[in-house]
Amino acid sequence: MKRIIIEGQHPLSGTIEIGGAKNSVVALMPACLLADGVVKLTNVPNISDKDALTQIMYLLGAKVTNKGNELEVDSSNVKNCEIPDELSRKLRASYYFMGILLGKYKHAEVYLPGGCNIGTRPINLHLKGFESLGATVVREGDKYILDAKELKGAPINLEFASVGATINIMFAAIYAEGTTTISNAARETEIVNIADFLNRMGAKITGAGTKTIIIEGVKKLHPADIEVIPDRIEAGTYIIIGSLIGDNLTVKGIVPEHIKALLDKLTEMNIKYELKGNEITVSKSEHITPVNVKTLVYPGFPTDLGQPIQVLLTQADGISYFDETIWEKRLQHVPQLLKMGANIKCMDSHAEIMGPTKLKGAKLTATDLRGGAALVLASLIAEGTTIIDDADHILRGYERIIQKLSKVGAKIRIEEI
Ligand code: UD1
Repeated sequence: MKRIIIEGQHPLSGTIEIGGAKNSVVALMPACLLADGVVKLTNVPNISDKDALTQIMYLLGAKVTNKGNELEVDSSNVKNCEIPDELSRKLRASYYFMGILLGKYKHAEVYLPGGCNIGTRPINLHLKGFESLGATVVREGDKYILDAKELKGAPINLEFASVGATINIMFAAIYAEGTTTISNAARETEIVNIADFLNRMGAKITGAGTKTIIIEGVKKLHPADIEVIPDRIEAGTYIIIGSLIGDNLTVKGIVPEHIKALLDKLTEMNIKYELKGNEITVSKSEHITPVNVKTLVYPGFPTDLGQPIQVLLTQADGISYFDETIWEKRLQHVPQLLKMGANIKCMDSHAEIMGPTKLKGAKLTATDLRGGAALVLASLIAEGTTIIDDADHILRGYERIIQKLSKVGAKIRIEEI
């Protein structure tokens, strides 16, 4: 288990560079298996979810070579096989092998995916989509067996604009005969990145980034390269850190339109920032206006920044209201913030956050990835030292977080215990 130790209240200045998007790369890596040959991904973040996916890809016979932030995947010798429980459970994105293997081999055996415990996280929409394309789905304990004689394009209307279901159905539909139309598709920026990669490999996908995605089935894909888009959630996390304790902290490598919902919220909170191209500079604000935050699908306020922004709301002058609408268990970090002196009342997925409160160092436990990040934010502004156990959650999605924060002046270290 990893433990992060932070001595708070050191202003942060300098530049933090954003890496590639976790939620893109965890789909782009499995997608490499669709082409037989050597594929290159650039701007790949060094996160532990990548390592878990690499293990699955090895098992399937892919050769994965990591050179800094580049990843080469040779899938010339890939063979379909069961993805065992212990590997599937390592991360959420293992479910993408369902769509990939079903699409390519018409058969997939994958166990229930893992990932953060932030809600029930059903995969019924993925499975319904596969069934619409002609697959049968059998569940044996925690294992899903997907099978099809042939896949045929179909109209698929998602009851909810699920990111995972949209991507997985896109994967399965690539080799289906005919046209698949996904309506009420998720519009997250990562989906555009993934569709772009698939199209470079020869897929025929239009409409990614809109509510309707159309996939014309093809017979074969060929190798291609793709750059992973910048991680909007990592960017947002560091921008919030800048608003809390920055002294001209610059966050570099952002795509401003990808984080518009956050920037609009910061403006409403009276937080001053300077935006120049792909860089943003932000400093600690003295008088923060309390606001209402409601998480929504893209382009709304992202659920993955909900926990981090709550820390900023503890410093606002008055009561802020927070509503989580995507995941039912995404306030588990709140008891940890209360230990630090925050004044937050929760009811189900609703929180009332009273500010401003002085936070104090405490002994904490990270409950999930973004909740863990929220604890890092709180520790950076707290008086004294904070210890965060189970920090492995945080490393799943924030590359080199210790190095990035140390470089701009944070007193932060990590220990293996
Ligand atoms: C992805 C992101 C995650 C982010 C989430 C919402 C990855 C690896 N993870 O997760 O960081 O928090 O999008 O932006 O990209 N749902 C169903 N049935 C399904 C699928 C989803 O009911 O088959 C529901 C979920 O319970 C949830 C909502 O839809 O309430 C959103 O889930 P979804 O968009 O699928 O999230 P993920 O793709 O798992």
